[in-house]
Amino acid sequence: MLEKFERYPLTFGPTPIEKLERLSAHLGGRVEIFAKREDCNSGLAFGGNKLRKLEYIVPDAIASGADTLVSIGGVQSNHTRMVAATAAKIGMKCRLVQESWVPHDDAVYDRVGNILLSRVMGAEVQLVDEGFDIGIRESWENALEDVRAKGGKPYPIPAGASVHKLGGLGYVGFAEEVRKQEVALGFTFDFVVVCTVTGSTHAGMVVGFAKDGRHRSVIGIDASATPAQTRAQVLDIARKTSDLIGGKNIDPEDIVLNEDHAYPVYGIPSKETLEAIRLAARLEGMMTDPVYEGKSMQGMIDLVRKGFFPAGSRILYAHLGGVPAINGYSYTFRNG
Ligand SMILES: Cc1ncc(COP(=O)(O)O)c(C=O)c1O
Repeated sequence: MLEKFERYPLTFGPTPIEKLERLSAHLGGRVEIFAKREDCNSGLAFGGNKLRKLEYIVPDAIASGADTLVSIGGVQSNHTRMVAATAAKIGMKCRLVQESWVPHDDAVYDRVGNILLSRVMGAEVQLVDEGFDIGIRESWENALEDVRAKGGKPYPIPAGASVHKLGGLGYVGFAEEVRKQEVALGFTFDFVVVCTVTGSTHAGMVVGFAKDGRHRSVIGIDASATPAQTRAQVLDIARKTSDLIGGKNIDPEDIVLNEDHAYPVYGIPSKETLEAIRLAARLEGMMTDPVYEGKSMQGMIDLVRKGFFPAGSRILYAHLGGVPAINGYSYTFRNG
């Protein structure tokens, strides 16, 4: 489905699929849970889901003659860390806008984790006091203008690399990769669980799995706490991505987004999020973060407990990365 698109390799190759035996047993053994370890996909600054997307964006950035990647996210954005790493790898400059998306008061929140790594990798980091919004932001447009005004040539990458014409392709590739791995495993997965915020990860999977009619088995767990906007963005990206690759029509009902676990707001873990993070860590040694994967882990656990997945189901949890952000929550985890 992706042969005609140029790809600049930033990842090691296909990511491993691991069975979560102890978590499956702990939750009653009615379903089998596996994790696809997108969090272990690269040597670039701890990796994560953004690299699959950026692999299809980098050729366009290079062809444009740009000298600076310009992107945006929250203070602890994983995406901006990945853009900083990519810029270093391809020899470009990097300008990052980090907005105050999370009402969180850990004293070192803007000094540790993702933002620390981005600074070390040489990105110019600008903190902006604006709240959460996955749409196009004025602060980001100002940064693009500022790079131009100083004689640079910016290449714009929106939040999460999502509302970019090529942003959905990477996770179409994920679906293709899973199909190949299923042949080797000798079985197919009944469900894929994915954390959804800016939308192109979920949207790419929907388009990729639509090829064999499995797109409604992709269960998005909303972590934005603004689900109407996220749902609309996933649908829009899925439709545009499908048009781009000559795929199937995508209907609103094809976007399955569970809205029950993002509370209280984006970036703040609930008691249940923290329990899910500890459970995965203590049963599997698998770390998840309080902003994204902790919430999708919480959602998957909740859905298993409620019997949402029929007995015998094989569930593939897409672990999209994001663990560096946990450093910004050191007080929350002071007792483990
Ligand atoms: C670790 C992690 N998980 C999930 C997501 C959600 O992916 P998307 O923004 O493509 O919906 C992101 C990025 O926003 C992320 O960094």
